[in-house]
This record gives sequence, C-alpha cells and structure tokens, in this order.
Amino acid sequence: MRATRAFLPLAALTFALVACEDETPTETLAFAPADVTGEIPCDVETRLAVCRNCHSNPPQSGAPFPLMKLGDVRGTYNGKVVAERAASALTSKFMPQAPYDKQLSDDDRAYLTSWFRMGGPIGAGCK
Ligand code: HEC
Repeated sequence: MRATRAFLPLAALTFALVACEDETPTETLAFAPADVTGEIPCDVETRLAVCRNCHSNPPQSGAPFPLMKLGDVRGTYNGKVVAERAASALTSKFMPQAPYDKQLSDDDRAYLTSWFRMGGPIGAGCK
C-alpha cells in the first residue's frame, strides 16, 4: 500500500526531529551569533549597507538574521556559518534580494564575496 510506505519514513523522520530537539542545542536549528568581538573593515561595512535594508537588527522583510556585527557574520544559520552562506548567496545572485539587487555593483559583489569567503576577517572599522 503506497500510503503506508510513504507514511512510515515520515513518521520516523518526525520522531527523529522531535528526539533531536531534546538533545541538540537550539542554535543549530536557527541563527546563532558567534561570541567574537572585532570590527568589520570599513570598506566592507559600507558595502553591507545594501544588505542591511533587510539584515538589520531586528531583521526586516523576512531576512532570517542580522548582518550588523562580526559575530553575526561568523555565527551560524541552521548549522552553517553565515559567511559561507553569504558567499554562496552572492555568487548565485540569490542576494541581495530585489529591489536592492540593482544597488550592488559587480565590483562590490566581488569584494563582499571574497571577504565572506575568508570567513569575515577583522579590519579597521569606519571612523
Ligand atoms: C530585500 C531584503 C534583503 C536584502 C536587501 C538582502 N537580503 Fe539576504 N535574505 C533576505 C530574505 C528574505 C532571506 C531568506 C530567504 C529565503 O530563505 O528564502 C535572506 C537570506 C539570506 C541568506 C541565507 C541564505 C541561505 O543560505 O539560506 C544570506 C546568507 C543572506 N541573505 C545574505 C545577504 C547579503 C550578503 C545581502 C547583501 C549583499 C543580502 N542578504 C541582502 C532578504 C534580503
């Protein structure tokens, strides 16, 4: 019976997810900022302004986390480092989302991508 065969794995998955909730720290299931201090380099900071139309704190327009501090960039979202996700999202042009996509030049996109690829190194902040 087709319905039964589909149901069993689903039931097992549901059980696994419920079981995980008890043991796994909740931060792996959503956004968890990293406990680091340090400044975002000013030339990165200015380019992140486009992102911060949504990735503010608190985030706007459905963005799942802020991109305000170094700890946000080095933190994890659903278990994967935000900087890695950001590099991929920039390369695939998934980010920035419309209508702000036109506000990021190719050069700025490349600049941000390489900074995220390096994991978000500290630099001299603005001012
Ligand atoms: C117009 C609002 C908006 C702007 C501007 C924006 N984002 Fe997002 N971002 C979102 C939303 C909404 C999501 C969730 C999308 C989803 O999961 O379908 C998201 C998700 C993400 C994710 C998670 C993708 C994943 O791996 O699941 C990353 C990383 C990200 N944004 C980085 C950026 C960066 C970097 C910029 C700037 C270059 C940026 N965003 C600009 C709204 C925005």
